[in-house]
Amino acid sequence: EAFDVMVVGSCMTDLVSQAPRLPKAGETIHGHKFFIGFGGKGANQCIQAARLGAKTAMVCKVGKDFFGDNYIQNFKDNGVYTDFVGQTSDSATGAASIIVNSAGENAIVIVAGANMLLGSEELQKALSAISHTKVLVCQLEISPQTSLNALRMAQDYKVKTVFNPAPAIPDMDPDFYRVSDVFCCNESEAELLTGFSVTNVEEARRAGQELLKRGCGSVIVTLGPQGCVVLKAQESPPKHVPATAVTAVDTTGAGDSFIGALAFYMAHYPTMPLEEMARRANQVAAVSVQAVGTQTSYPFKNDLPVELF
Ligand code: RIB
Ligand code: NA
Repeated sequence: EAFDVMVVGSCMTDLVSQAPRLPKAGETIHGHKFFIGFGGKGANQCIQAARLGAKTAMVCKVGKDFFGDNYIQNFKDNGVYTDFVGQTSDSATGAASIIVNSAGENAIVIVAGANMLLGSEELQKALSAISHTKVLVCQLEISPQTSLNALRMAQDYKVKTVFNPAPAIPDMDPDFYRVSDVFCCNESEAELLTGFSVTNVEEARRAGQELLKRGCGSVIVTLGPQGCVVLKAQESPPKHVPATAVTAVDTTGAGDSFIGALAFYMAHYPTMPLEEMARRANQVAAVSVQAVGTQTSYPFKNDLPVELF
């Protein structure tokens, strides 16, 4: 039976320190809490889609180490299909050092490790499943070439694609736009890709229009507490989807919660207007920012109002 959502992407072990503020260069400061969690943008998005009820599979690579073994168990615990999860002894499981300040903002350094060894061999193994999935999701924490190949593969089989250019790279292959049914980025990624400043709804519209022109089916520019802007190739004008105000404890992985939820809605409600999917995905992500951690803060279907389903 076919999957609803497949993610070709990253897994990281998140090493998180909570501190009053982010340290400056050369500075040591006291934090008050440390924890280890399951992260990585690809896996986060997959786990959020699974928790909403999507039948999911992850295509990724972890190390043959303690963190990799644990990560595979985490997928199983969340009902994610793991036959396309590779394990290598040539590199360590990806790791992310994360500092979260008292405003819930973060700074992250990732060492992608095994994620960078995900390649054509794994894609070939997953090809038949990719050709039958409803939605395929990719990001940029693995080799960009692998992401692009996966998106092309999906497009060849008329599978709906979601591309999240995170973290953004300045010299991104322009083909990424053409293979994206939904191109979803945050304000800083939109800035880096367009060279425009993106701090408010009006600026997000302008950047979104520029990204749309490059060949995407639709563009979503997320704006944190300001919601998001949704643009469709066949339709104008752009629509602003506001978010409900919440008090943020930890915004790490909120964008991934949004994208995982979006992929779930695309798979389960294919005829729903994109702005309605975005509105619902905003609500899912808003729950995630109110608790610490990434996946630890992602809601399950049962935690959410029935109107979202
Ligand atoms: O988007 C949040 C994620 O980015 C974290 O889980 C961390 O692993 C980094 O990849
Ligand atoms: Na959170």
